[in-house]
Amino acid sequence: MKQSVKLIAGNWKMNGLSASLAEAKALREALDGEPSAHRVALCPPATLIAQMAWALRGGAVEIGGQDCHAKASGAFTGSVSAPMLKDAGAGLVIVGHSERRQGFGETDADVAAKTEAAIAAGLEPIVCVGETLDQREAGKAVEVVRAQVLGSLPDSAGTAAFAVAYEPVWAIGTGLTPTLEQIEEVHRAVRAAMVERLGQGGETAPILYGGSVKPDNARDILAVPEVGGALVGGASLKAADFLGIVRAA
Ligand code: 13P
Repeated sequence: MKQSVKLIAGNWKMNGLSASLAEAKALREALDGEPSAHRVALCPPATLIAQMAWALRGGAVEIGGQDCHAKASGAFTGSVSAPMLKDAGAGLVIVGHSERRQGFGETDADVAAKTEAAIAAGLEPIVCVGETLDQREAGKAVEVVRAQVLGSLPDSAGTAAFAVAYEPVWAIGTGLTPTLEQIEEVHRAVRAAMVERLGQGGETAPILYGGSVKPDNARDILAVPEVGGALVGGASLKAADFLGIVRAA
């Protein structure tokens, strides 16, 4: 399905201090002057969400978190819950990023619980999936991603706003990207798995591509059928680079 309004989301990961808000403000000012037909979001570290929400209030840039706990509150030292992100000014939240699946041992069941918590808090989750290089080389990319989609989406996603992001682990931060044909193949498989899991509720949610998206490859990637947006890491840290991607959408 061709989706006209795309979601271009920036994931700052563990980067950004107060001074970095200047980049967010520059992005907002540029979009004030040349409004985009697409949705544009920044996901800064949790420490910057409230400040960024205040700095960008009234503008078009949406704000998201990068992770949330599956519980709304409780004795979970160091964790941030979905209602807290919402309260700080976020409208979206990334869940199940491969850096959390790999570095923090998050399973599909954990990701589904976080996705459910995000939806319950009124956030729009961006649920990440993606194969490792070993899995791709073994010819298992589609199988792995299908299983992740089936296991990471809770029933409540069927009636909620959400997105899935396909981020091949080997493409993240490496400058490598799959071919456009490979991206299309996996995105079609993700769509089929979303519909298998949620029925009609899985038909329209956008499927973002993530992994070394840059201003110079964004146009081609975003034109691939079933690519409904991008999840951008490194190139979202500078307003000029991120704008280049938004303009290419
Ligand atoms: P890069 O764009 O830096 O490859 O990161 C992609 C990513 O992990 C976004 O979530």
